[in-house]
Amino acid sequence: MKELAALAQPGVLSNPTTHVEYLTFVLKDQWFDMEEINDALSQLLGIGKSILQKDLTSNLTVSMGFSANAWPILFPDVALPEELHTFPAMKNGRREFPSTAGDIFLMIKSERMDLNFQAAKHAARALSQIADLIEDIQGFKYLDNRDMIDFVDGTENPVADERVEAVLVKEGDNRGGSYLTVQRYVDRQGLWDQQTTEHQEKVIGRTKMDNIELDESTKPAWAHNAKSKVEVDGEEVKMLRQNRPYGNAMEHGTMFIGFAETPSILETSLTQMITADEHGHYDRLLDFVEAKTGANYFLPPMAFIEDRFDD
Ligand code: HEM
Repeated sequence: MKELAALAQPGVLSNPTTHVEYLTFVLKDQWFDMEEINDALSQLLGIGKSILQKDLTSNLTVSMGFSANAWPILFPDVALPEELHTFPAMKNGRREFPSTAGDIFLMIKSERMDLNFQAAKHAARALSQIADLIEDIQGFKYLDNRDMIDFVDGTENPVADERVEAVLVKEGDNRGGSYLTVQRYVDRQGLWDQQTTEHQEKVIGRTKMDNIELDESTKPAWAHNAKSKVEVDGEEVKMLRQNRPYGNAMEHGTMFIGFAETPSILETSLTQMITADEHGHYDRLLDFVEAKTGANYFLPPMAFIEDRFDD
């Protein structure tokens, strides 16, 4: 597993940092020559390296993902990663997961917001010839890794070998790569705050203060951690969530950042969450958070990035 882990972009397997900046770019609607593309992309690697040098303790990483739409344009000589496809919009009852634009996704993680900003500014400049920056979200660690609905997020994430197993492609040319689903959610904070702590705990499936999982007799079928859990042949299959809250007192929410070996795990989880079963049970968290965006990316292994982008 160590050898496989070494192939990945470092930000894919590491824990969420204190500060993070998520940049979504859409390719310009024009013909590109390959030189223009390679020139833009090759600057990204250098930007990450130079800014990390300012403070090695910041642990700055720049992770890069590419959409199914962008891949053949950016890498016409490389086959599309087998399972990379556009995020499928979903709707059930009043709940909706929209599918929105996104061709290049950068996740800049570090302990310093100022360094993230510098990296983001230079990355946006480097890509400006080929792509428009359509969303720039600054996320941060809130209390003890809580979302702004005040529950600890990430507890059931896999660790060590189990994480590598859950997240990375094991075979073929894309060995060490990972599939990512990104959704930006906005909290319906007013409505959430009207709920009793007891109800909130049922919605999440864990206690609020101590973050203990509710036992099976107390946890409803519609709890978030019941609906989002994926099982294949009775065995749990994990994803890695690097969620971080973002925003301010006027509008805030969670960036859902889900990595997996295959996007089907993420889609199964989302389908279970949004779909009302025969008892009308869907994931009740969706009464209190609204998905505003949805996009899929592939984060190729580090060697792919270095071979192509190192100038
Ligand atoms: C606003 C959006 C979301 C919030 C605030 C949120 C919050 C949480 C919290 C507080 C937990 C319990 C602690 C933990 O194990 O991390 C959790 C668990 C989990 N969430 Fe979410 N989540 C969100 C969206 C999603 C989405 C979109 C998915 C799937 C695509 C997802 C998948 C999971 C999974 C798999 C677990 C662990 C279940 C288990 O094994 O116990 N979450 N989430």
